[in-house]
Amino acid sequence: MLKKIINISKVFTFDQQSKNIKCIENPEILIENEKILELSSSVANCDNIIDANNCIVTPGFIDSHTHPIFIGNRAKDFVSRLNGKTYKQINNEGGGILSSIELLRNATDDELFLSSLKNIKSFIDLGTTTIEAKSGYGLTTEDEIRSLEIIKKINSCLPIDIIPTFLGAHSIPPEYSKSDYINIICNEMIPEIGRRKLAVFCDVFCEEGYFNKKDSYKILNQAKNYGLIPRLHADEFVYSGGAELAKEIKAASADHLMAINNDGIEALASSDVIATLLPGTTFFLNQDNYVNGRKLIDSGCNIALASDFNPGTCTIQSLSKIMQLAVMKCNISLDEAFKGVTINAAKSLLKQDSVGVIEKGYKADILFWDIDSLEEIIYWDNSSNLRLKKVIKNGQIIFNSV
Ligand code: NIG
Ligand code: FE
Repeated sequence: MLKKIINISKVFTFDQQSKNIKCIENPEILIENEKILELSSSVANCDNIIDANNCIVTPGFIDSHTHPIFIGNRAKDFVSRLNGKTYKQINNEGGGILSSIELLRNATDDELFLSSLKNIKSFIDLGTTTIEAKSGYGLTTEDEIRSLEIIKKINSCLPIDIIPTFLGAHSIPPEYSKSDYINIICNEMIPEIGRRKLAVFCDVFCEEGYFNKKDSYKILNQAKNYGLIPRLHADEFVYSGGAELAKEIKAASADHLMAINNDGIEALASSDVIATLLPGTTFFLNQDNYVNGRKLIDSGCNIALASDFNPGTCTIQSLSKIMQLAVMKCNISLDEAFKGVTINAAKSLLKQDSVGVIEKGYKADILFWDIDSLEEIIYWDNSSNLRLKKVIKNGQIIFNSV
């Protein structure tokens, strides 16, 4: 099945040769099935025509860090923080991650499926066409596997690509000591998940009060034995050596980094690890210690941006909002932010050969924007809601605004 997109004002995409964002004026795009077959000033005629109505066109956005498998909400934690409590205090008082765990464990399969489906569905209308999705609110072998099975099921019924990550090491459940729980992760959860190929990645919350560098190494090393690729929640609140571990264990990404130090930056800069900034979390936590993205990039790190969508520390799903926060608070440029939600996010998910750019042979994951310049994506607050006209995923229109 051939389709062509006509009346495009400009395409913005990463140029693999120059390594910069390039602008192509008035091209046409020919799509065969789910892939881009041609991008040139005039492509062959075909029956199926999509009129871009003079829109700007970009690759579909990629969110490389989300926690959408949950039920209920933590609005109470949000208000407690506004009243002066810290994330740690709320956790210690029975709120935080553990309260989401209790809700998930008590939910039926149907309830958890429907809640997670709703969480994931809302990414689509915001222009996100690929997400990474973590388990991590179950923390029993049964509930972690249940969460990953739900990701698989949602992946088969929604038109968005979902890449599953096992995050059993998200917290220590109250019924176990840390060392007993780590043994369960390593000896029960990882072997079963690896054998059943329920996850591509394994993540660990490497943080004071959760899993230290040694614990994280043990878990991620075992994950590698079962074919899972490491990624890390690193140096979110306190510097814990997470960035250095990411290099050592050859993780695909090290995420958060609000508390990273020079050694951590040096480790990421001298590795292939993608440094992922999550400024929505800093904002939602009402903190002001945004990662200095400028320093990371100038030191040689490759940066992705992601939402960190989760019930506790960030409910933002729009990657255009995350781009806006990143340019305002992390001191990076628009082009760097754009790379962060396209090609570099693809790299962090090891998908850079299929998504993240508009180029022949890549998936036809395409956004249509009613704007005149790329700046407008970050200029209009909520540009994803107001200016996004159409979303194409795998060659199919999956969102059309009225
Ligand atoms: O990325 N830091 C760990 N995980 C989430 C928060 C999870 C939660 O509070 O529910 C994060 O910020
Ligand atoms: Fe997270």
